[in-house]
Parts: sequence; structure tokens; C-alpha cells
Amino acid sequence: MFRIGVLTGGGDCPGLNAVIQGIVIRAAQHGYEVLGIEDGYKGLLYGKARKLTPKDVEDIYWLGGTILGTSRKNPAKSEEELKTVIENIKKLGLDVLITIGGDDTLGAAKKLYERGIPIVGVPKTIDNDLSLTDYSVGFWTAIETIADALHKLHTTARSHKRVMIAEIMGRYAGWLTLIGGLAGGAHIILIPERPVDIDEVCRIIKERRERGEPYTLIAVAEGVTIPTVGELVAVSKEKDEFGHVRLGGVSKILEEEIKKRTGEEVRSAVLGHIQRGGTPSAYDKVLGLRLGFKAVDLVKEKKYGYVVVVNGMNILPAKIEEVVGTVRKVPDELHELTNVFTGLYTAPKQ
Ligand code: F6P
Repeated sequence: MFRIGVLTGGGDCPGLNAVIQGIVIRAAQHGYEVLGIEDGYKGLLYGKARKLTPKDVEDIYWLGGTILGTSRKNPAKSEEELKTVIENIKKLGLDVLITIGGDDTLGAAKKLYERGIPIVGVPKTIDNDLSLTDYSVGFWTAIETIADALHKLHTTARSHKRVMIAEIMGRYAGWLTLIGGLAGGAHIILIPERPVDIDEVCRIIKERRERGEPYTLIAVAEGVTIPTVGELVAVSKEKDEFGHVRLGGVSKILEEEIKKRTGEEVRSAVLGHIQRGGTPSAYDKVLGLRLGFKAVDLVKEKKYGYVVVVNGMNILPAKIEEVVGTVRKVPDELHELTNVFTGLYTAPKQ
């Protein structure tokens, strides 16, 4: 029987199980068997996999996380490991591998494809920074979570007349912070695509106080660079197998700077992994199922080396090398939206 292997790699997010359910159902409709690889590429390195039938995946589409487990294992870290992974793909009898992941996972899938493994990719990342896809699985659920958190920070900021800072994930792109900040009504939104001007931030805070709005909510991306620091702020400088440090801590630095310059009471909160948890939104459930279906349809067409991407209302195939390798940044035309809730509706005095 034709056998599809499926794995989820990199950071987990809500909507992964919907993709898995979509794949397994569609595969059964086409008469294919599915083998679920455990813990991302780690499972391929150690040959850990289990059969997935439609019964096994019944109603998992609304569960957060991934039933297969995940890891940040890079299968192409060494030539030796890459060889073992390719050998295990053969030993497991996989005719094709569907990899669900972000830039790291799909980038590694591209390397396997270049070594002759038939690959289909599915885009997943709350960071929403993959090229050629409007959205990736997990993004809109994370936005809901961020908006909810910001609303909660809003009420406490207002009661205490404080400046409240929320630090938001997204690595080197500002999608989560911009769209989440808008959905949650942040007065100031700071994203990696633009330099941070702390004087301007303090000016807005002061002007809001003078106008009778003595509180300010700031959404800051974990990947912004504060001029006084001059580099990305990381929890740990230790790099993972794909070469990323763990970002985190920029909100604390911003808190100190604003306190020092304005004398305001400032608090900061790192939203952290809560942004990747919980039940998928309706959008991510439906998107996950659709992407899963389409991925198997590409398998049927033997269209390998492609990723299924969101293009408006459609799910289309895009070449894997055009989806990975560059961080898709927030375009300039969206940046103006960072000013929607500053509360300063008249032009500043010249
Ligand atoms: O790529 C998704 C992401 O959540 C980033 O926004 C964040 O910087 C990173 O993963 C955190 O990774 P980990 O789960 O390994 O701490």
C-alpha cells in the first residue's frame, strides 16, 4: 500500500492536529496508509513512528498542540545524521513525507527533497513569516490569545494609571505584534521592521497623560532592537540546532528606560508560550483541515517539492525553495496601522 509519512516540526501551535486529521482522512479517501512520525525529525533519526487511521484521529482537529509531538531537531545538522534519516525513511517504507512546519522544518524538508526524498510541505508558524502564504497555521489563534491578553492588561493599566508593556513572540518579524496589537488595542506598537524611537514612545505616553489618558498599553515584539542595547535581547545566547538564540527580555529593558525618562509607573509582561497554547480558532481548524486535504492531493498528483499555501480564498502549491529561506517581514503599507490607537488624533505641534 502507498505509504505517507507525516511529521510536525519546530514550535507547536494550535491547528496542527487539524492538519493531521485532514491528511489522514484524505489519504484514506485515496486509499493511502499514513504513518505518524513522532517528535518531528527526531522520530526519523530514531525510527519512531506509528500508524494513523481515521479512527485514531477522530475529532483531534479541535485539540491544541500536536498528537505526534515535536522537536527542534535539525535532520541536516551533520551528514551522518542526514544519512541515517534517509535510511530510516526507506526502512519505514515511506513513499512520501509530508512535513508540517515553519522555516526551519520546511528548510530541512527542502534538503531532504534535494537528496531525492519526495516531499510535500504544510506551512505552520505563529510567526507568520513564511513567504508566499498569506497565513500559516497557528497565526490567527495566537492573535486571538494576544488580543485577549492585551484587553486584560488594558483594564489593569487603566485602573493603576500605569504604562503596561506586553512582550510578544514572532522572532524577527512583527506580524504577531502588529496584528495582535491592533486587535488588542495597544496604544503603541513596536515591531522589528522599524527602529525603536524611545523618545517618541515617551512623548506619546506624556501627551496621553496631559490629554487625560494617564495610562498607555505598549505591544513590543521580542525581536525589536532597543538603541541603548544595540542588539537582539535573548534569554540565552545558546543556539538551537538551526542557529537561533532564545529571544526574550526586551520588555524589561524598555520598562526601565521609560521609567527613567518619564517617571511613570511601568510594568511589563512576557506573554510567552501561552501564545502557542490552547484550542485552535475556527479559522485555524478549517485552514488545517483544508491544508491537510490539499497536501494529500499533491501527493496524488506526484507534485513533490511543493508547499501548500494560502492565497486569498485558495490553497495553492508553491515551490518549497520559494517559501523558505527568507523571513517575510511586515510590509511598509501596514506599518501605519501602528498609530491607530495612540489616542493622538490631531497632528503634533510643529
Ligand atoms: O517560531 C515560533 C516561536 O514561538 C517564536 O515566536 C519564538 O521566538 C520561539 O518559537 C520560541 O521557541 P521555543 O518554544 O523553543 O522556546
